[in-house]
Amino acid sequence: MPDVVPPVPGLPAARPGPAIPLATLTTLGIGGPAERVLVARDEASLIEAIADADRAGRPLLVLGGGSNVVVSDDPLPGDVVLVRTRGTHDAEDAGGPGGAPRVLRTVAAGEPWDAVVAAAVADGLAGLECLSGIPGATGATPIQNVGAYGQEVADTIVAVRVLDRRTGEVATLPAEALGFAYRDSVLKGRDDRVVLDVTFALERSGLGAPVRYGELVRSVGAAAGERVPAAQLRDAVLALRRGKGMVLDPSDPDTRSAGSFFTNPILDDDAFAAFRARVADRLGPDVQPPEYEAGPGRRKTSAAWLIDRAGFEKGHARDGAAISSKHTLALTSRGGDAADLVALAREVAGGVERAFGIALHPEPVFVGARW
Ligand code: EPU
Repeated sequence: MPDVVPPVPGLPAARPGPAIPLATLTTLGIGGPAERVLVARDEASLIEAIADADRAGRPLLVLGGGSNVVVSDDPLPGDVVLVRTRGTHDAEDAGGPGGAPRVLRTVAAGEPWDAVVAAAVADGLAGLECLSGIPGATGATPIQNVGAYGQEVADTIVAVRVLDRRTGEVATLPAEALGFAYRDSVLKGRDDRVVLDVTFALERSGLGAPVRYGELVRSVGAAAGERVPAAQLRDAVLALRRGKGMVLDPSDPDTRSAGSFFTNPILDDDAFAAFRARVADRLGPDVQPPEYEAGPGRRKTSAAWLIDRAGFEKGHARDGAAISSKHTLALTSRGGDAADLVALAREVAGGVERAFGIALHPEPVFVGARW
């Protein structure tokens, strides 16, 4: 076992062994002491650590970058296995449009995500650039189909290799078997399969994917659907995310979050019409809620907008937790515990429900803590 647990950027390093505070391993800076923390730096030790806990019937938490979890302050029994596996390898096929060559880049689950994006852009490979500045580890990205600025990993993932904890077998799941949807996949909400590596199909092109997200289109000064250099998109996305406190920065307390705390609600057409009427009623006939296509007969609105318009101000604090002062969808910890954060989240969700009749659903994974 290595001697030092790699810290979350900006947080102090923790020693492996008993009673390591999980607060040092999560971007929220919240979490009680773990009974035992193990660091897996290669796939064999990852599989062994998991199999060992499962054989002994010990509770197990597999943790990547700690950027999408709300962990209770109570002592956590059993093992925490930190996925710190590294390595990338490339192959090529002719699966691009019109038989164009593509690079199939396979990335170990523990590789820090933003470094993967930066390397792809530097290597002239397109398809990940809009996912710049997202914290966390690569293995977490397929689980909730990480997405931002008009791109999601489902656009480029061709396969995910997983360890099936029930059988001990390693299996390769093709994209079609992963059930990707908005912030969702078949891997979400269960812990019987652990991601070992992820294969992305990337286009050999200095140009990024066509720009579609309004805010990004405006920021690069392109026309919607236009293609601009991937490096330019990466820079623009990093700047936009920083402005929203969505890039980890130890000197910025607004970044002590789990990113978006709630998913954006998706409503069927009838429910959306009722929602529009309720908005008009409450805020006046000229106010239109944001709406985006979300598949046949369904539309998505913005949780950040709902929170704002329900009357919550940026920076609104409650005990040791606060809404980010840069974005209403990020809930941050201001030295409090999981209970403070959850109380704030309930206050926000309750306010939105009362104002607009829409239930917000948390995006992070809850460990010990309850929603
Ligand atoms: N808005 C407000 N108040 C705010 C912020 C935003 O009213 O304080 C409204 C604006 O109308 C804005 C709209 O909300 O146009 C949408 O805001 P934004 O563009 O920031 O996107 P989002 O829907 O809040 C989603 C993802 C983010 C991703 C961004 C950019 C979800 C749950 N969140 O946020 O992903 O970075 O789009 O693509 O889908 C994450 O999942 O953790 C995450 C950060």
